[in-house]
Amino acid sequence: MGYFREATGIKGPSGFGSGATAEQITQGIDASRLTVIITGGSSGIGAETARVLALRGAHVIIGARNLEAANNVKQSILQGIPSARIDIIQIDVSSLRSVRTFADKFLAMDLPLNVLINNAGIMYCPFQLSEDGVEMQFATNHLGHFLLTNLLLEKMKTTAARTGIEGRIVNLSSVAHIGPYREGIKFDKLNDKKAYDDKSAYGQSKLANILHSNELARRLKAEGANVTANSVHPGLVRTNLGKHSPVFMAVLKTVTCVLWKNIPQGAATSCYVAVHPSLKGVSGKYFADSNEEKPSDMARDAALAAKLWDFSEQLVNSK
Ligand SMILES: NC(=O)c1ccc[n+]([C@@H]2O[C@H](COP(=O)([O-])OP(=O)(O)OC[C@H]3O[C@@H](n4cnc5c(N)ncnc54)[C@H](OP(=O)(O)O)[C@@H]3O)[C@@H](O)[C@H]2O)c1
Repeated sequence: MGYFREATGIKGPSGFGSGATAEQITQGIDASRLTVIITGGSSGIGAETARVLALRGAHVIIGARNLEAANNVKQSILQGIPSARIDIIQIDVSSLRSVRTFADKFLAMDLPLNVLINNAGIMYCPFQLSEDGVEMQFATNHLGHFLLTNLLLEKMKTTAARTGIEGRIVNLSSVAHIGPYREGIKFDKLNDKKAYDDKSAYGQSKLANILHSNELARRLKAEGANVTANSVHPGLVRTNLGKHSPVFMAVLKTVTCVLWKNIPQGAATSCYVAVHPSLKGVSGKYFADSNEEKPSDMARDAALAAKLWDFSEQLVNSK
């Protein structure tokens, strides 16, 4: 159903299809009471998500490692939307130290926090360890966001309790979560260069994004917190994400050409899950083309999600 709907643009039960843009999805939504953090807002899907949420009135904090690129995004948003409220805070999500500094800086601003969009990501890069000694795709796509979310969670819960507005956490996953290593997450050989495969490592990190949001959703529900957590596949979107694998990407784009979206379409599902009123109370789900979809069996494995949570917690606490 997913690929068919993606290729044809046929609308799903939400009333939206793969051709809908983030602006169309958020038409008529007033986000002026929301403060949103989006990581990786300096390009691609993140930059467009920031623009459209700012267009709907949200105060958007862009987390970016490249401040010049983020400033260019901010200036271009302000040109189109002079009233846009955009701030930039530097973050390298692959560095636990940088994530902690980002959280400290944000919390010192004493702002509310309604929406956290864990969007920054890398794909198919050659083997590399982060400054914390963790395989780079796992460190960037999952571990940094795991720590960031934990550091901001209390702020999100208190904001939701004080304002009565549901908090929302959105993890950018991918259809690539269906292609991790055979065992899903290589807990024992995560940082082993010999066991590394760039495609499987990306799949592993994107599987981790879904498992993280599912376990987080379970914990938030158990606490009775008015904060949801969901994951999304934005579609196959023409961004710079494939820069480490140009030949593979060229072949993939040729074979799957009917499935590709432009960036305004690619930001739609993130915006839908972040602010659409129809998703009130919906948590622990996976979305594609702005409709709920069923992810892989592994992604729905609650025991694996719990194991990843403990593993990630130990990892961040040890650094
Ligand atoms: N495009 C697709 O087809 C597709 C499909 C499925 C899922 N996704 C997911 O969508 C998300 C956004 O990707 P995109 O397609 O918009 O790619 P993109 O244009 O390459 O954007 C990725 C963003 O993440 C930032 N980033 C990367 N590493 C970072 C780090 N260590 N610290 C802080 N920021 C970092 C990049 O900043 P720099 O400019 O500094 O590198 C950039 O702003 C990713 O999580 C990706 O996995 C994309």
